[in-house]
Amino acid sequence: MRFDIITLFPELFAPLLTSGITRRAYESGLVDVRLWNPRDHAEGNYRRVDDRSFGGGPGMVMLAEPLFKCLTAIRAERQETNPAPLVLFSPIGQTLNHSAVERWSHSAGAVLLCGRYEGVDQRFIDQYVDQQISLGDFVLSGGEIAAMALLDAVARLQPGVLNDEGSHQLDSFNPALDGLLDSPHYTRPEVWQDHAVPAELMSGHHAHIARWRREQSLRLTAQHRPELLEQARLSGKLSRQDEVFLKATRSKADIENPEQGSKKL
Ligand SMILES: C[S@@+](CC[C@H](N)C(=O)[O-])C[C@H]1O[C@@H](n2cnc3c(N)ncnc32)[C@H](O)[C@@H]1O
Repeated sequence: MRFDIITLFPELFAPLLTSGITRRAYESGLVDVRLWNPRDHAEGNYRRVDDRSFGGGPGMVMLAEPLFKCLTAIRAERQETNPAPLVLFSPIGQTLNHSAVERWSHSAGAVLLCGRYEGVDQRFIDQYVDQQISLGDFVLSGGEIAAMALLDAVARLQPGVLNDEGSHQLDSFNPALDGLLDSPHYTRPEVWQDHAVPAELMSGHHAHIARWRREQSLRLTAQHRPELLEQARLSGKLSRQDEVFLKATRSKADIENPEQGSKKL
């Protein structure tokens, strides 16, 4: 899997590529990341990569030509019969989520274009960009943080990257968790500021612990992301035992807070 990143700030990627558990994926080449600066493909003494926006208005726009030359150099190096997609990070793109990350984690990679300033000359986008990805409904100063989010999420799904093989399957949104949110986690000490770790987790009884975690996932998902719970229900992922638990939780919430009650569950 190879990701070629087009960025005016390649230095921003160094900490990501050399720190934490995902470092292994990058250092071993399991996720091969190559950085390309369009400035290296720009003309003139100033190696200009941006210019003013036609029609006026504030901010600069990334020039199409250095991006085109940079992309041509990447394509020449990749030498693919089936060219990897060119992805532009942009607020107008499809918001990144777990299923998209999973698809990327099984792919051969992509060329990732990080925009800056007001964005990229639209003619380059129309000609060469295959897909646009957004990190959410807010505006970043550049696409680098979005690119790093994608790389990190993809790298941790690669076999052998996390210490505990399969631990990502117990993370939020994973199909192995039926797309629900993860349950809460606790560590030492057993009592901290008079608050004890839930007794179920200290029981040593694997089935009880697994049931407790399932119920916490159900409770948290109902509370924070009810639409994910509904999706799990519609795809037949909730057992009778799950539904009994959710019903009891709803009734308890109604008794404790008749105003709000089960609306949140
Ligand atoms: C300051 S932004 C440009 C915003 C653009 N003028 C707009 O209003 O949609 C500069 C670059 O940051 C990146 N960017 C900003 N917000 C993003 C988001 N939510 N998701 C992904 N990339 C984003 C894009 O690559 C964009 O070209």
